[in-house]
Amino acid sequence: MPASDFVVVILGAGKGTRLRSGLAKVLHRAGGRTLIEQVVRACRPLGARELIAVVGHQADDVKATVEPLGVTSVLQQPQRGTGHAMLVARRAIGQRAKYAVVVPGDAPLIRTETLRALVRTHLTGNAAATILSAHLADPAGYGRIIRKPDDRVAGIVEQSALDDTQRDINEVNSSIYCFTLENLWPCLVKLRPDNFHKELYLTDAIALLNQRGGTVLAEVAADAREILGCNTRAELAEVDRVLRERKRAALLDAGVTIQLPETVLIDPEVEVGADTVIEPCVQLLGKTRIGAGCVIRTGSVLSDAVLENNVTVRPHSVVSASRLAEGTMVGPFAHLRDGAHLLAGARVGNFVEVKKSVLGEGTKAMHLTYLGDAKIGSKTNIGAGTITCNYDGVSKNPTTIGKGVFVGSDTALVAPIRVGDGAYIAAGSTVTENIPADALGIARGRQVNKPGWAAQRRREVAASKSKAAAKPPKRSRPRPRPKAANPRRKAAPARKGSKSARRR
Ligand code: UD1
Ligand code: MG
Repeated sequence: MPASDFVVVILGAGKGTRLRSGLAKVLHRAGGRTLIEQVVRACRPLGARELIAVVGHQADDVKATVEPLGVTSVLQQPQRGTGHAMLVARRAIGQRAKYAVVVPGDAPLIRTETLRALVRTHLTGNAAATILSAHLADPAGYGRIIRKPDDRVAGIVEQSALDDTQRDINEVNSSIYCFTLENLWPCLVKLRPDNFHKELYLTDAIALLNQRGGTVLAEVAADAREILGCNTRAELAEVDRVLRERKRAALLDAGVTIQLPETVLIDPEVEVGADTVIEPCVQLLGKTRIGAGCVIRTGSVLSDAVLENNVTVRPHSVVSASRLAEGTMVGPFAHLRDGAHLLAGARVGNFVEVKKSVLGEGTKAMHLTYLGDAKIGSKTNIGAGTITCNYDGVSKNPTTIGKGVFVGSDTALVAPIRVGDGAYIAAGSTVTENIPADALGIARGRQVNKPGWAAQRRREVAASKSKAAAKPPKRSRPRPRPKAANPRRKAAPARKGSKSARRR
């Protein structure tokens, strides 16, 4: 069908009462995107002259979501049903198109190919309307397709209006249609709100099209899951599961190993190279890009991270908006925050947090460290417990450490500070002045050893204990037995001058 002939109408004005949410239904997320964005992405490749979204509930937010995707919005206020939504869309369509593909904003599993097939069936069948239907094991909640003996469609009956003979029909309406508009418009104006919700149902247009002699076809979706709506939280969870499964399947096909795939969550825009291994319970989020031959070990969460080839992320690490070059290794339990950049072969170990810092080639920070606003050269060793004191209570300050530096354990670097190439810092230093290249910086209290002090102390303690043991206890009358002893209760401190205090 030429693009100039048809428009896509996405119905997204409803509230989604059954979700019990403060958020409009189409703004809920599944598979890492809002429901309406998933639908827009499925429709866009059809090449329609225009994509129109009918918005109503939280209209401004829905509009702000779809407009950057190239979708025009029309406002349906109040929302008086799916048929009314199409009447509102009519104002935007005018005389410009012959056909409309209609898709509900709460059906995010629909695929472009399925929509294409629907349009083909519509055109070859010269139909007034073609419905995408599906056979569901549990059709409850969906409108049912009523077929005629010749297999064409006589009408759609909503769940609330089913009679006993119709209840067992398991072919349901997906709410995805292709309409010939010159046939549809005269039927829409005849819709009446004589139903359970007192709304104008688009589904009622099917019987009216029949009355006017139009042909209504129904094409059964090859994969029934594609038509699933998200009216309840349970349906939303199911749809999310299917979208996540699709993403994992695409990566498995591309040569990525995913262990226990059902436990791994991967956002739609994530890229992963071949021969990378993703262990159970990993989350890859946002625009994360992972090269080939990497290992992402269990429990790690990566968002907007860029990993070159052969990177290892050991268990339970969190990497956000950071870049890890070839052959780097982080974790277990590492936290790389925004702007961490590890150059080739650098390593970050357990309980190390890195923010807005560059670690040069082969540099290591393996234990219990915070590096923030730091620039560190190559082959430098950051000792356990090193802290860059980057915040002075007002602003963040930089730390610059050269290459081949040895930072002793438990060093505090009070920024702004510079440490030259090849310098050493003595363990336990609080560095407040720059250290020149190749120098040793020591910034701690000088140690004093007192020979024999400990042995003397032990002798004194032993002597006072034996003196106390030799003295008979002075008791004028028997002490009362303490009440029910509670081993957890701390004995009250003896009052000054009391007998017990004197006994001590
Ligand atoms: C609808 C169909 C039902 C079908 C099911 C498939 C009708 C009357 N029923 O039921 O036959 O089996 O979809 O999922 O059409 N919307 C508006 N304006 C409104 C009302 C709704 O834009 O005034 C939008 C909603 O935002 C939603 C879509 O239309 O995206 C469908 O509405 P919804 O309330 O979900 O209809 P269902 O009860 O699911
Ligand atoms: Mg629905």
